[in-house]
Amino acid sequence: MHFATRTIHAAQPSDAATGALTAPIHQTSTFEQEAPGVNLGFDYARTGNPTRQRLEHVLADLEGVSDCAVFGSGLAAEHAVLHAFLRPHDRVLVPRDVYGGTWRLLTRVFAGLSLQVVPVDTTDLAAVDDALRVPARMVWLETPTNPRLIVSDIAAIAGLAHAQGALVVVDNTFATPVFQQPFALGADIVVHSVTKYLAGHSDLIQGAALARDPAVFEPIRFLQNAIGGVPSPLDCWLTLRGVKTLELRMQRHADNAWTIARELAAHPAVRRVFHPGLPGHPGHAVAARQMTGFGGMVSLELDAPPDAVTAFVSGRRFFVLAESLGGVKSLISQPARMTHASIPADRRAELGISDALVRLSPGIEHAADLLADLRRGLDALVGSVHGASAPGRPVAATT
Ligand SMILES: Cc1ncc(COP(=O)(O)O)c(C=O)c1O
Repeated sequence: MHFATRTIHAAQPSDAATGALTAPIHQTSTFEQEAPGVNLGFDYARTGNPTRQRLEHVLADLEGVSDCAVFGSGLAAEHAVLHAFLRPHDRVLVPRDVYGGTWRLLTRVFAGLSLQVVPVDTTDLAAVDDALRVPARMVWLETPTNPRLIVSDIAAIAGLAHAQGALVVVDNTFATPVFQQPFALGADIVVHSVTKYLAGHSDLIQGAALARDPAVFEPIRFLQNAIGGVPSPLDCWLTLRGVKTLELRMQRHADNAWTIARELAAHPAVRRVFHPGLPGHPGHAVAARQMTGFGGMVSLELDAPPDAVTAFVSGRRFFVLAESLGGVKSLISQPARMTHASIPADRRAELGISDALVRLSPGIEHAADLLADLRRGLDALVGSVHGASAPGRPVAATT
Protein backbone atom coordinates (compact mmCIF):
# COMPACT_ATOMS: atom_id res chain seq x y z
CA MET A 1 0.00 0.00 0.00
CA HIS A 2 1.37 3.44 -0.85
CA PHE A 3 1.94 5.93 1.95
CA ALA A 4 -0.99 8.18 0.99
CA THR A 5 -3.32 5.17 0.97
CA ARG A 6 -2.05 4.09 4.38
CA THR A 7 -2.85 7.50 5.85
CA ILE A 8 -6.51 6.80 4.99
CA HIS A 9 -6.81 3.02 5.36
CA ALA A 10 -4.14 1.73 7.73
CA ALA A 11 -5.66 0.86 11.10
CA GLN A 12 -8.75 2.94 10.23
CA PRO A 13 -11.59 0.40 9.71
CA SER A 14 -15.21 1.50 9.94
CA ASP A 15 -16.64 1.25 13.44
CA ALA A 16 -17.67 -2.38 14.04
CA ALA A 17 -20.68 -1.49 16.20
CA THR A 18 -22.29 1.11 13.90
CA GLY A 19 -20.53 1.13 10.55
CA ALA A 20 -19.48 4.75 11.09
CA LEU A 21 -16.56 5.62 8.81
CA THR A 22 -14.74 7.49 11.52
CA ALA A 23 -13.55 6.37 14.93
CA PRO A 24 -15.80 7.15 17.89
CA ILE A 25 -14.40 9.54 20.47
CA HIS A 26 -14.36 7.36 23.59
CA GLN A 27 -14.71 10.18 26.09
CA THR A 28 -14.65 8.05 29.20
CA SER A 29 -12.40 7.72 32.21
CA THR A 30 -13.18 4.08 32.95
CA PHE A 31 -14.72 0.93 31.47
CA GLU A 32 -17.36 -1.41 32.88
CA GLN A 33 -16.10 -4.85 33.82
CA GLU A 34 -18.13 -8.07 33.51
CA ALA A 35 -16.48 -9.45 36.61
CA PRO A 36 -13.46 -8.20 38.54
CA GLY A 37 -10.56 -8.22 36.07
CA VAL A 38 -12.75 -9.35 33.16
CA ASN A 39 -13.13 -6.60 30.56
CA LEU A 40 -13.13 -5.93 26.83
CA GLY A 41 -9.46 -4.96 26.77
CA PHE A 42 -9.73 -1.62 28.53
CA ASP A 43 -10.05 -0.93 32.26
CA TYR A 44 -8.98 2.67 32.93
CA ALA A 45 -8.40 5.42 30.37
CA ARG A 46 -4.91 6.46 31.53
CA THR A 47 -3.82 2.88 30.85
CA GLY A 48 -5.65 2.56 27.54
CA ASN A 49 -8.39 4.21 25.51
CA PRO A 50 -9.74 2.91 22.18
CA THR A 51 -9.48 6.29 20.40
CA ARG A 52 -5.90 6.71 21.58
CA GLN A 53 -5.10 3.12 20.68
CA ARG A 54 -6.38 3.65 17.16
CA LEU A 55 -4.13 6.68 16.74
CA GLU A 56 -1.17 4.70 18.07
CA HIS A 57 -1.81 1.98 15.50
CA VAL A 58 -2.02 4.53 12.68
CA LEU A 59 1.19 6.35 13.65
CA ALA A 60 3.03 3.04 14.12
CA ASP A 61 1.98 1.99 10.64
CA LEU A 62 3.14 5.27 9.10
CA GLU A 63 6.56 4.96 10.76
CA GLY A 64 6.80 1.29 9.73
CA VAL A 65 6.80 -0.35 13.18
CA SER A 66 4.30 -2.11 15.47
CA ASP A 67 4.49 0.01 18.61
CA CYS A 68 3.66 3.63 19.35
CA ALA A 69 2.71 5.45 22.54
CA VAL A 70 1.12 8.89 22.32
CA PHE A 71 1.49 11.55 24.98
CA GLY A 72 0.04 14.89 25.97
CA SER A 73 2.97 16.72 24.33
CA GLY A 74 6.16 16.09 22.38
CA LEU A 75 8.14 16.82 25.52
CA ALA A 76 6.13 14.30 27.54
CA ALA A 77 7.01 11.69 24.91
CA GLU A 78 10.70 12.70 25.06
CA HIS A 79 10.58 12.63 28.85
CA ALA A 80 9.31 9.04 28.83
CA VAL A 81 12.07 7.96 26.43
CA LEU A 82 14.82 9.64 28.46
CA HIS A 83 13.39 8.38 31.74
CA ALA A 84 13.20 4.85 30.39
CA PHE A 85 16.83 4.58 29.32
CA LEU A 86 19.08 7.06 31.12
CA ARG A 87 20.87 6.13 34.34
CA PRO A 88 23.11 8.25 36.58
CA HIS A 89 26.24 9.61 34.86
CA ASP A 90 25.22 8.30 31.43
CA ARG A 91 26.67 10.04 28.42
CA VAL A 92 24.24 11.36 25.81
CA LEU A 93 25.30 12.88 22.49
CA VAL A 94 23.02 15.57 21.04
CA PRO A 95 23.22 17.85 17.99
CA ARG A 96 24.71 21.27 18.79
CA ASP A 97 21.40 22.92 17.93
CA VAL A 98 19.11 20.30 19.50
CA TYR A 99 15.59 21.57 20.28
CA GLY A 100 15.80 23.70 23.45
CA GLY A 101 13.15 21.69 25.25
CA THR A 102 15.16 18.49 24.78
CA TRP A 103 18.24 20.26 26.14
CA ARG A 104 16.22 21.51 29.12
CA LEU A 105 14.96 17.98 29.89
CA LEU A 106 18.48 16.56 29.77
CA THR A 107 20.23 19.30 31.71
CA ARG A 108 17.56 20.52 34.15
CA VAL A 109 14.74 18.00 34.56
CA PHE A 110 17.25 15.14 34.76
CA ALA A 111 19.86 17.22 36.60
CA GLY A 112 19.71 14.70 39.46
CA LEU A 113 21.18 12.03 37.18
CA SER A 114 24.38 14.08 36.58
CA LEU A 115 24.28 13.12 32.92
CA GLN A 116 27.12 13.97 30.58
CA VAL A 117 25.23 15.76 27.83
CA VAL A 118 27.64 16.31 24.95
CA PRO A 119 26.72 18.65 22.08
CA VAL A 120 28.30 17.30 18.90
CA ASP A 121 28.43 18.57 15.34
CA THR A 122 26.36 15.68 14.01
CA THR A 123 26.98 16.80 10.42
CA ASP A 124 30.61 15.75 10.94
CA LEU A 125 30.86 11.95 11.11
CA ALA A 126 34.46 12.11 12.35
CA ALA A 127 33.31 14.29 15.26
CA VAL A 128 30.55 11.78 16.10
CA ASP A 129 33.01 8.90 15.87
CA ASP A 130 35.41 10.78 18.11
CA ALA A 131 32.69 11.56 20.69
CA LEU A 132 31.72 7.86 20.74
CA ARG A 133 35.21 6.82 21.83
CA VAL A 134 33.88 7.33 25.34
CA PRO A 135 30.90 4.94 25.72
CA ALA A 136 27.54 6.65 25.40
CA ARG A 137 24.09 5.35 26.34
CA MET A 138 22.26 7.32 23.70
CA VAL A 139 22.75 9.35 20.54
CA TRP A 140 19.88 11.80 20.13
CA LEU A 141 19.36 13.08 16.58
CA GLU A 142 17.07 15.72 15.22
CA THR A 143 17.10 16.23 11.47
CA PRO A 144 16.44 18.65 9.91
CA THR A 145 16.92 20.98 12.88
CA ASN A 146 15.35 24.23 13.87
CA PRO A 147 15.79 26.95 12.56
CA ARG A 148 18.72 26.43 10.17
CA LEU A 149 17.49 23.05 8.89
CA ILE A 150 20.78 21.31 9.55
CA VAL A 151 20.77 17.73 8.29
CA SER A 152 22.46 14.72 9.91
CA ASP A 153 23.15 11.36 8.28
CA ILE A 154 20.95 8.98 10.28
CA ALA A 155 22.22 5.73 8.72
CA ALA A 156 25.90 6.59 9.12
CA ILE A 157 25.47 7.80 12.71
CA ALA A 158 23.31 4.80 13.63
CA GLY A 159 26.11 2.57 12.33
CA LEU A 160 28.69 4.33 14.51
CA ALA A 161 26.40 4.42 17.55
CA HIS A 162 25.36 0.78 17.34
CA ALA A 163 28.98 -0.32 17.02
CA GLN A 164 29.47 1.25 20.47
CA GLY A 165 26.21 -0.12 21.92
CA ALA A 166 24.40 3.25 22.04
CA LEU A 167 20.68 3.67 21.38
CA VAL A 168 19.73 5.97 18.52
CA VAL A 169 16.74 8.26 18.96
CA VAL A 170 15.51 10.42 16.07
CA ASP A 171 13.21 13.40 16.53
CA ASN A 172 11.32 13.17 13.22
CA THR A 173 9.08 16.20 13.84
CA PHE A 174 10.34 18.39 10.98
CA ALA A 175 10.56 15.71 8.28
CA THR A 176 7.51 13.58 9.25
CA PRO A 177 7.24 9.97 8.04
CA VAL A 178 6.12 11.36 4.68
CA PHE A 179 9.66 12.47 3.89
CA GLN A 180 11.87 10.48 6.26
CA GLN A 181 11.64 6.96 7.67
CA PRO A 182 14.22 6.85 10.48
CA PHE A 183 13.64 3.18 11.39
CA ALA A 184 14.61 2.11 7.87
CA LEU A 185 17.81 4.14 8.38
CA GLY A 186 18.68 2.41 11.66
CA ALA A 187 16.94 4.40 14.42
CA ASP A 188 15.89 2.49 17.53
CA ILE A 189 13.37 5.06 18.74
CA VAL A 190 11.49 7.85 16.95
CA VAL A 191 9.84 10.76 18.74
CA HIS A 192 7.45 13.38 17.42
CA SER A 193 5.95 16.62 18.43
CA VAL A 194 2.59 15.56 16.99
CA THR A 195 1.57 19.17 17.69
CA LYS A 196 3.23 20.12 14.39
CA TYR A 197 2.70 18.47 11.01
CA LEU A 198 1.11 15.19 12.14
CA ALA A 199 -1.86 16.93 13.73
CA GLY A 200 -1.34 19.75 11.26
CA HIS A 201 -3.91 22.39 12.19
CA SER A 202 -2.31 24.29 15.10
CA ASP A 203 -5.14 23.20 17.36
CA LEU A 204 -3.59 20.81 19.88
CA ILE A 205 -0.45 19.76 21.76
CA GLN A 206 0.56 16.10 21.51
CA GLY A 207 3.57 13.81 21.24
CA ALA A 208 4.50 10.29 20.22
CA ALA A 209 7.28 7.80 20.90
CA LEU A 210 7.79 4.72 18.75
CA ALA A 211 10.27 1.86 18.87
CA ARG A 212 11.22 -0.96 16.54
CA ASP A 213 12.11 -3.56 19.16
CA PRO A 214 9.27 -4.55 21.55
CA ALA A 215 11.81 -4.84 24.37
CA VAL A 216 12.83 -1.20 23.80
CA PHE A 217 9.21 -0.12 23.56
CA GLU A 218 8.03 -1.90 26.71
CA PRO A 219 9.48 0.60 29.26
CA ILE A 220 8.07 3.51 27.24
CA ARG A 221 4.59 1.98 27.34
CA PHE A 222 5.05 1.30 31.06
CA LEU A 223 5.90 4.97 31.69
CA GLN A 224 3.01 6.22 29.57
CA ASN A 225 0.70 4.68 32.15
CA ALA A 226 2.93 5.00 35.21
CA ILE A 227 3.69 8.73 34.75
CA GLY A 228 0.41 9.31 32.97
CA GLY A 229 1.19 12.08 30.47
CA VAL A 230 -1.55 10.91 28.12
CA PRO A 231 -3.55 12.99 25.60
CA SER A 232 -7.33 13.34 25.64
CA PRO A 233 -9.50 11.16 23.39
CA LEU A 234 -10.70 14.29 21.56
CA ASP A 235 -7.14 15.35 20.78
CA CYS A 236 -6.39 11.82 19.55
CA TRP A 237 -9.43 11.99 17.31
CA LEU A 238 -8.33 15.36 15.91
CA THR A 239 -4.94 13.88 15.06
CA LEU A 240 -6.61 10.86 13.44
CA ARG A 241 -8.50 13.32 11.27
CA GLY A 242 -5.38 15.38 10.57
CA VAL A 243 -3.27 12.41 9.58
CA LYS A 244 -5.67 11.52 6.78
CA THR A 245 -4.43 14.57 4.85
CA LEU A 246 -0.81 14.34 6.02
CA GLU A 247 0.65 13.35 2.68
CA LEU A 248 -1.34 15.97 0.75
CA ARG A 249 -0.49 18.68 3.26
CA MET A 250 3.20 17.82 3.34
CA GLN A 251 3.43 18.02 -0.43
CA ARG A 252 1.88 21.50 -0.37
CA HIS A 253 3.98 22.65 2.60
CA ALA A 254 7.10 21.43 0.79
CA ASP A 255 6.11 22.99 -2.54
CA ASN A 256 5.46 26.32 -0.83
CA ALA A 257 8.73 26.23 1.11
CA TRP A 258 10.65 25.38 -2.03
CA THR A 259 8.96 28.14 -4.04
CA ILE A 260 9.83 30.68 -1.35
CA ALA A 261 13.43 29.43 -1.13
CA ARG A 262 13.92 29.51 -4.89
CA GLU A 263 12.14 32.78 -5.62
CA LEU A 264 13.53 34.83 -2.76
CA ALA A 265 17.17 33.70 -2.79
CA ALA A 266 18.11 36.52 -5.15
CA HIS A 267 16.08 39.25 -3.43
CA PRO A 268 18.34 42.15 -2.42
CA ALA A 269 16.97 42.13 1.15
CA VAL A 270 17.81 38.41 1.57
CA ARG A 271 21.35 37.60 2.57
CA ARG A 272 20.94 33.84 2.81
CA VAL A 273 18.29 31.16 2.45
CA PHE A 274 18.31 27.97 4.52
CA HIS A 275 16.53 25.11 2.77
CA PRO A 276 17.87 21.57 2.39
CA GLY A 277 16.73 21.47 -1.24
CA LEU A 278 19.16 24.19 -2.29
CA PRO A 279 22.34 22.65 -3.74
CA GLY A 280 24.38 25.13 -1.68
CA HIS A 281 22.86 23.94 1.61
CA PRO A 282 25.54 21.98 3.52
CA GLY A 283 23.12 19.09 4.17
CA HIS A 284 21.74 18.92 0.63
CA ALA A 285 23.46 15.69 -0.44
CA VAL A 286 22.52 13.81 2.74
CA ALA A 287 18.95 15.15 2.62
CA ALA A 288 18.63 14.10 -1.03
CA ARG A 289 19.73 10.61 -0.05
CA GLN A 290 17.78 10.02 3.16
CA MET A 291 14.62 12.07 2.58
CA THR A 292 12.00 11.75 -0.13
CA GLY A 293 11.25 15.48 0.04
CA PHE A 294 13.04 18.43 1.61
CA GLY A 295 10.35 19.31 4.12
CA GLY A 296 8.05 22.24 4.68
CA MET A 297 10.31 24.72 6.46
CA VAL A 298 12.50 27.53 5.14
CA SER A 299 14.52 30.20 6.93
CA LEU A 300 15.81 33.50 5.57
CA GLU A 301 18.61 35.67 6.84
CA LEU A 302 17.74 39.23 5.97
CA ASP A 303 20.06 42.09 5.16
CA ALA A 304 18.48 44.40 7.72
CA PRO A 305 18.97 45.49 11.32
CA PRO A 306 17.20 43.50 14.07
CA ASP A 307 14.36 45.96 14.62
CA ALA A 308 13.61 46.14 10.90
CA VAL A 309 13.50 42.35 10.88
CA THR A 310 11.05 42.48 13.80
CA ALA A 311 8.93 44.95 11.81
CA PHE A 312 9.07 42.60 8.82
CA VAL A 313 7.90 39.52 10.75
CA SER A 314 5.22 41.52 12.55
CA GLY A 315 3.76 43.05 9.41
CA ARG A 316 2.89 40.09 7.22
CA ARG A 317 -0.65 39.49 6.05
CA PHE A 318 -0.63 35.72 5.56
CA PHE A 319 2.14 34.69 7.95
CA VAL A 320 0.97 34.81 11.53
CA LEU A 321 3.67 35.89 13.99
CA ALA A 322 3.79 32.90 16.33
CA GLU A 323 5.95 30.13 17.68
CA SER A 324 5.38 26.56 16.47
CA LEU A 325 5.14 25.23 12.94
CA GLY A 326 3.47 22.65 10.76
CA GLY A 327 -0.08 24.01 10.59
CA VAL A 328 -2.19 24.74 7.54
CA LYS A 329 -1.93 28.47 8.27
CA SER A 330 1.50 30.01 7.60
CA LEU A 331 3.57 31.06 10.59
CA ILE A 332 6.57 33.35 10.85
CA SER A 333 9.05 33.95 13.65
CA GLN A 334 12.27 35.73 14.52
CA PRO A 335 13.98 32.96 16.53
CA ALA A 336 16.55 35.24 18.23
CA ARG A 337 13.72 37.25 19.79
CA MET A 338 11.24 34.40 20.26
CA THR A 339 11.97 30.66 20.47
CA HIS A 340 15.71 31.10 21.01
CA ALA A 341 15.63 34.29 23.12
CA SER A 342 16.67 32.46 26.28
CA ILE A 343 19.91 31.27 24.65
CA PRO A 344 22.78 33.69 25.39
CA ALA A 345 23.68 35.90 22.41
CA ASP A 346 27.22 34.51 22.04
CA ARG A 347 25.88 30.93 21.93
CA ARG A 348 23.25 31.99 19.38
CA ALA A 349 26.04 33.49 17.28
CA GLU A 350 27.94 30.17 17.43
CA LEU A 351 24.83 28.40 16.18
CA GLY A 352 24.36 30.92 13.38
CA ILE A 353 21.06 32.19 14.75
CA SER A 354 21.42 35.90 14.13
CA ASP A 355 18.88 38.62 14.90
CA ALA A 356 18.32 38.81 11.14
CA LEU A 357 17.17 35.20 10.85
CA VAL A 358 13.50 34.67 10.01
CA ARG A 359 11.90 31.25 10.21
CA LEU A 360 8.95 30.47 7.99
CA SER A 361 6.50 27.62 8.31
CA PRO A 362 4.55 28.02 5.08
CA GLY A 363 1.03 26.67 5.37
CA ILE A 364 -1.06 25.26 2.55
CA GLU A 365 -2.23 28.60 1.13
CA HIS A 366 -1.51 29.40 -2.54
CA ALA A 367 2.20 30.01 -3.06
CA ALA A 368 1.54 33.20 -5.04
CA ASP A 369 -0.18 34.86 -2.09
CA LEU A 370 2.59 33.84 0.29
CA LEU A 371 5.30 35.06 -2.09
CA ALA A 372 3.55 38.36 -2.73
CA ASP A 373 3.19 38.97 1.01
CA LEU A 374 6.87 38.26 1.65
CA ARG A 375 7.99 40.28 -1.37
CA ARG A 376 5.98 43.27 -0.22
CA GLY A 377 7.79 43.25 3.10
CA LEU A 378 11.21 42.59 1.61
CA ASP A 379 10.81 45.32 -1.02
CA ALA A 380 9.92 47.75 1.76
CA LEU A 381 13.10 46.78 3.60
CA VAL A 382 15.34 47.58 0.66
CA GLY A 383 16.67 51.09 0.97
CA SER A 384 14.46 51.95 3.91
CA VAL A 385 15.88 49.81 6.68
CA HIS A 386 17.41 52.74 8.48
CA GLY A 387 14.11 54.53 8.65
CA ALA A 388 12.08 51.51 9.75
CA SER A 389 10.48 51.87 13.14
CA ALA A 390 10.57 48.92 15.51
CA PRO A 391 7.39 47.89 17.26
CA GLY A 392 9.46 46.71 20.22
CA ARG A 393 7.80 43.36 20.80
CA PRO A 394 8.44 41.72 24.15
CA VAL A 395 11.02 38.97 24.27
CA ALA A 396 9.61 35.52 25.02
CA ALA A 397 11.38 32.63 26.68
CA THR A 398 12.04 29.34 24.95
CA THR A 399 8.89 27.25 25.06
C1 LIG B 1 11.77 19.42 16.99
C2 LIG B 1 10.86 19.48 18.17
N1 LIG B 1 10.82 18.45 19.02
C3 LIG B 1 10.02 18.46 20.11
C4 LIG B 1 9.22 19.55 20.40
C5 LIG B 1 8.35 19.56 21.63
O1 LIG B 1 7.05 19.28 21.30
P1 LIG B 1 5.75 19.85 22.10
O2 LIG B 1 5.78 21.33 21.98
O3 LIG B 1 4.63 19.17 21.41
O4 LIG B 1 5.93 19.41 23.51
C6 LIG B 1 9.23 20.65 19.54
C7 LIG B 1 8.39 21.84 19.82
O5 LIG B 1 8.55 22.88 19.27
C8 LIG B 1 10.08 20.61 18.40
O6 LIG B 1 10.12 21.65 17.54
